[in-house]
Amino acid sequence: MTISAETKDLRATKPAASDAPGTAGERWDGLILGASLATLDCADGYGEVRNAALGWRDGLITYVGPRDGLPDKPEALAHDVITTDGWITPGLVDCHTHLVFAGDRAREFELRLQGASYEEIARAGGGILSTVEAVRACDEDELLRQSLPRARALLADGATTLEMKSGYGLDFEGERRMLRVARRIGEELGIGVRTTYLAAHALPAEYREQADAYIEEVVQWLPRLHAEGLVDAVDAFCEGIGFTPAQTRRVFQAARALDLPVKLHADQLSDLSGAALVAEFGGLSADHVEHTSEESVRAMAAAGVVAVLLPGAFHVLRETRVPPLASFREHGVAMAIATDCNPGTSPLLSLRQALQLACTHFRLTPQEGLRGATVNAARALGLDDRGALRVGMRADFVRWKIRHPAELGYWLGGDLAGGVWIGGQRVHHR
Ligand code: NIG
Ligand code: FE
Repeated sequence: MTISAETKDLRATKPAASDAPGTAGERWDGLILGASLATLDCADGYGEVRNAALGWRDGLITYVGPRDGLPDKPEALAHDVITTDGWITPGLVDCHTHLVFAGDRAREFELRLQGASYEEIARAGGGILSTVEAVRACDEDELLRQSLPRARALLADGATTLEMKSGYGLDFEGERRMLRVARRIGEELGIGVRTTYLAAHALPAEYREQADAYIEEVVQWLPRLHAEGLVDAVDAFCEGIGFTPAQTRRVFQAARALDLPVKLHADQLSDLSGAALVAEFGGLSADHVEHTSEESVRAMAAAGVVAVLLPGAFHVLRETRVPPLASFREHGVAMAIATDCNPGTSPLLSLRQALQLACTHFRLTPQEGLRGATVNAARALGLDDRGALRVGMRADFVRWKIRHPAELGYWLGGDLAGGVWIGGQRVHHR
């Protein structure tokens, strides 16, 4: 995948609005005809429109609906008219990734297959801390060089917005470098990027036995990084091998003091009531949530916290405890799905694949899965300008070479994304 010549051509050949006779300034930049749409612009279902049309201008959607409902002849409406088949969905939103990192942990994977647990490896100084070592050894350009292909792979399979966390620097410069690389990936690929400050991811070796002192550092770094425009949200790893609820609370207070939204790696390996803590702080999402209690689910529902399911980590860690889906459904907690792309627990480079894993392991319906990777994922990032196909929303969408949207939760692998548009620009084409 490249930011294709296509995109540049589109930009280069698009006449300036004033060149278009008659309707100067009014014509849309693009119009797609004939495909079916899954708009997701509905409380339930796919929001299907058959033999549809989708128009956009200046990066925003101008028309969504049946082809025969267009207000004029296609050529009169848009500069670029494309007739095609397949299905168009909103661009996928990957609302939880750690894709900025260096090296890999394939050797650790081998050890786990031989019986070592994720916790044992972490407690022995491996796991997250081994990636910290690799990241600290990289300058910004090298970190970008290693991370970009992962973002490209996600984009090529339909992701148009990526959340990226820090959390492998665990010192001021390292965290800053990771967040800067996340922003640079956005500039390089034209993809939507949301950054999350996750310095409370693991305790760095130099703070052994001094977790509270480390958390105080984390709290001090935050306003400095925020002042550089590097932080959109704040996260922590609240877990026996991570940080306590009290330490997490301290980080959340620092975030709220800056008006930054919070989210959490919550209740992944044990129930520390992490999801309820997010609810208490009016946060965006509780992520993982395998061990979340009924009481916490109620708190999430009351506070509108999204449950972010991460089936890649569940799969790779060979977990057996499934998140409380029935309870989420019963209480009306919105569910999102993300890759959790990271070198330890989820070396997963396709959000569509995460959708498949969520259907297989958690019995999500493909419809819930697609909602989870679009409209609910946007909500988990606090974004209301994307995640559905609606007039006025960002023209982020994907044309899939499929006969029905359920195929997005069905195929393992394959080459389904025929075209990916971000802000009305085609950035990927097969
Ligand atoms: O979401 N649980 C903590 N964080 C990551 C794993 C990071 C790693 O192992 O490098 C997760 O699973
Ligand atoms: Fe994670």
